[in-house]
Amino acid sequence: MATLRVLTGITTSGTPHLGNYVGAIRPAVRASLAADTESFYFLADYHALIKVDDPQRIQRSTLEIAATWLAAGLNPERVTFYRQSDIPEIPELTWFLTCVTAKGLLNRAHAYKAMVDKNIAAGVDVDGDVSAGLFMYPVLMGADILIFNAHKVPVGRDQVQHIEMARDMAQRFNHLYGNHFVLPEAAIEESVATLPGLDGRKMSKSYDNTIPLFAPREQLRKLIAGIVTDSRGPGEPKETEGSALFQIFQAVAEANEVEDLRRAYAQGISWADAKQALFERINREVAPMRDTYQSFIDNPAKVEEILLAGAVKARRLSAPFITRLREAVGLRNLANQGTAAKTAKVSKAAKPSFKQYREADGQFYFKFVDEQGNALLQSKGFASPKDAAASIARLQKEGFAAFAQLQENLLPLPGVTHDALKAAFDQLAATA
Ligand code: TRP
Repeated sequence: MATLRVLTGITTSGTPHLGNYVGAIRPAVRASLAADTESFYFLADYHALIKVDDPQRIQRSTLEIAATWLAAGLNPERVTFYRQSDIPEIPELTWFLTCVTAKGLLNRAHAYKAMVDKNIAAGVDVDGDVSAGLFMYPVLMGADILIFNAHKVPVGRDQVQHIEMARDMAQRFNHLYGNHFVLPEAAIEESVATLPGLDGRKMSKSYDNTIPLFAPREQLRKLIAGIVTDSRGPGEPKETEGSALFQIFQAVAEANEVEDLRRAYAQGISWADAKQALFERINREVAPMRDTYQSFIDNPAKVEEILLAGAVKARRLSAPFITRLREAVGLRNLANQGTAAKTAKVSKAAKPSFKQYREADGQFYFKFVDEQGNALLQSKGFASPKDAAASIARLQKEGFAAFAQLQENLLPLPGVTHDALKAAFDQLAATA
């Protein structure tokens, strides 16, 4: 069956912190090793421009985050690892999606609404300090996901709404222009969905409460010493519920280590000892990656080379796909009036179908065409019309599953992706 496509991005607006590592980078690297998975990881530098107007910081952050990913074991040969701004098809798709996205949908985005609520509370203009970039953030993110037709998007809980919005955009576009997009789903790492920061609020660059992943040892110790706790003294049993220290430990450590700490809490471990345990555990996680990280930081040209190679790989998919999307929306070669007119006449109720015919060689053939009449599959010659019909019947009944089994009788057509084919079969089944 179809390989699962997994995609995720990190905004290049700061230094990678422990929350990025346990919430996105570590699970992503692990998932990338699974069979039957095609992974896409990228540095969301266009997104960074929404929040950061310091060019130096964007460049530095991009290097640091790329180096972190590589140090954490991401293999760029195995996955597609790239920088968002190297893929011009992403901003182009952003515009296509912008034109099918209701403004009202974007009005409801949490990040935007939070700004509006703050402005209302302060008695200033509702849109004070809100850039159009911030407002459009979910559309750019939708384009990131849909340009590669990702099935699963591992993100933190705070990003789930954005994935739902991407689904809405995909659905709307598919409805208007035919089945081009897979509807993506969020995949939340439950144990680490919201990692608290030093002050107990969500660990985030914007709260300045993060633990930088590659902080030098002594700085790491100091930061951990600053984690907020309650005032219970040594010997007094402590609550794991609501303890930022415990939750951070839980996100980094294995289940049995977590149970040990839970017991120690009940037995009244001192906060100083608990902090020491967390410090050692984080240090143990990070130590093996430190040298690799530093070697990439010291050799930015190497990182640049890796990212550019990743962009070439990514664009092998995004470039032909955007060509198809341009065609779908009507940005077409004017010399091709024939196809344009034919497609325009197709009613919305049309669905994919099979067309049987006989060639001059006396053999019987069929084609599988999408709702706009574009051929997706072409059969080889059959000696009798009954044989051709039997294959069609199986494809109609079993859909994409039968396609895999009948492959030797079918010729794939250039430019038709696996996803497009599957989408057409799904559509056929849905309208049968
Ligand atoms: N918005 C995400 C974050 O801040 C980063 C991001 C940008 C992303 N584009 C994406 C994540 C596409 C997943 C898929 O965490």
